[in-house]
Amino acid sequence: MATYENPRLVLDSSRPPEPGRVSWRSPSNIAIVKYWGKRGIQLPQNPSLSLTLTAAYTQMTMEYALKKDPDPKIDLTFFFNDQPHESFQQKVTTFLTNVAPIFPFLRQLKLTIRTFNSFPHSAGIASSASSMSALALCLCSLEDRFFQTLNDDAEFDRKASYVARLGSGSACRSIYPYAVLWGETPVVPGASDEYATPLHELIHPVFKTFHDDILVVSAAEKAVSSRAGHALMEGHPFAETRYTQARLRTVLLVEALRSGDIETFGQIAEEEALALHALMMCSRPPYLLLQPGTIAILHRVRTFRQQTQLPVYFTLDAGPNVHLLYPAEYAARVRAWVEGELKSYCEQGFYLPDKVGEGPIEE
Ligand code: PMV
Repeated sequence: MATYENPRLVLDSSRPPEPGRVSWRSPSNIAIVKYWGKRGIQLPQNPSLSLTLTAAYTQMTMEYALKKDPDPKIDLTFFFNDQPHESFQQKVTTFLTNVAPIFPFLRQLKLTIRTFNSFPHSAGIASSASSMSALALCLCSLEDRFFQTLNDDAEFDRKASYVARLGSGSACRSIYPYAVLWGETPVVPGASDEYATPLHELIHPVFKTFHDDILVVSAAEKAVSSRAGHALMEGHPFAETRYTQARLRTVLLVEALRSGDIETFGQIAEEEALALHALMMCSRPPYLLLQPGTIAILHRVRTFRQQTQLPVYFTLDAGPNVHLLYPAEYAARVRAWVEGELKSYCEQGFYLPDKVGEGPIEE
């Protein structure tokens, strides 16, 4: 098991680096096979597979200068949308303290992080994948700038994915473009529970054109966090069945992505969405994140598909918002339908048209 701990990554204070900055834009991702249930330190109970998005992203800049005083505490100031943000600052300070054995030079720096999300704050769109992947990429860029240890791109990405996972499991998949696997599965040799594996070379081109319209049924903060949801999988009556099911669906999905089988892809997407929420509904205590508008949209997707024969499928994250998945060639017809029929279920009519994309960009 990789630890990436490296006590040698310490700056020579007799030759201090000039103050500077690194900057990344990193997207969110939507899981088709879901990660739900973890073990150890952010390790998944089953493999998951996601599509990397484009329009929903975090832009992060990390400014650094060598500290004047020798206090080894992490020294971080955090701005979110140009405003100081106390709770994010605390969360990220804790994370940086946790990863300091991997990046010991962090204790020598005065850091300022500025982040912006492309989607409105509290739009009900999860930002942990985009923000934790952006943060991990900034940390790897810092390491490479100071020590030139990550000039191999594959090694850079793998380490960024590993570190992103420690921040938020699903964030490890945002490092790579198009379609990404996280977790061991016999059909992708070399896949790991510790970091994600890119699948873009293996997938049929149609999946690189996929749209994902995120229909925001409710922008309110979730009543039960993902962290609490993962924890409720411990001792869950269906846990083992669920993990076996997800392993099997991963195998089927990899094959569907390879062969361009949109129908199997869509069927798995919908089965997984409903399975995720079914698990919540029979946790102890049980809980329900779906809203009436969510259910109405799910029925309408199925009716629309039956009537038009268009390959439009839904998936859900751990919340009430619906992701509509379909190939780009049907975008005009789907857009007209969303505007005419589905928009009315969205909070203040808000939805975010997104699509599968090329992954993070260094800025
Ligand atoms: O990465 P976390 O701990 O926020 O968990 C994400 C869980 C789901 O979004 C529901 C599924 C997934 O695989 O992204």
